[in-house]
Amino acid sequence: MSISFTVNGKTHKVSEQLDMPLLWYLRDHIDLKGTKFGCGIGQCGACTVHMDGHAIRSCSITLGLLEGKEIKTIEGLSDKVEQAVQTAWKKIDVPQCGYCQSGQIMAASALLKKNPKPTDEDINNVMTNICRCGTYVRIRKAIHEAAD
Ligand code: FES
Repeated sequence: MSISFTVNGKTHKVSEQLDMPLLWYLRDHIDLKGTKFGCGIGQCGACTVHMDGHAIRSCSITLGLLEGKEIKTIEGLSDKVEQAVQTAWKKIDVPQCGYCQSGQIMAASALLKKNPKPTDEDINNVMTNICRCGTYVRIRKAIHEAAD
């Protein structure tokens, strides 16, 4: 069985190790290290990427489930909303240690595409990624900034 999907617009075909989590494939097989490993059990959000425009946790989906899917990682961010999020992140100076931030940015850009003017409550409901430095206030501020 062969599985075909795209990562940042480039087609990938895999036929072995189909039970491998996408996160492992991204980091160890195609050298996209911007997506981070945190918990490995779908809890922390450090590994967040987009699949068909939705934020998903790449540690919790295997290659065998990706037929026809479009995956986007932090390295592939390019459209207007995604650029606005990156600009806002820099302007607000969101990161502290920075480890979780690529996942936060992926989650925030997926949120803004579905809800261009989220309230604090909307943000709190959707942004479930964990930040051990506690940058949540700046993350909320940057999302509002990017929404303007
Ligand atoms: Fe995937 Fe924590 S590493 S959710």
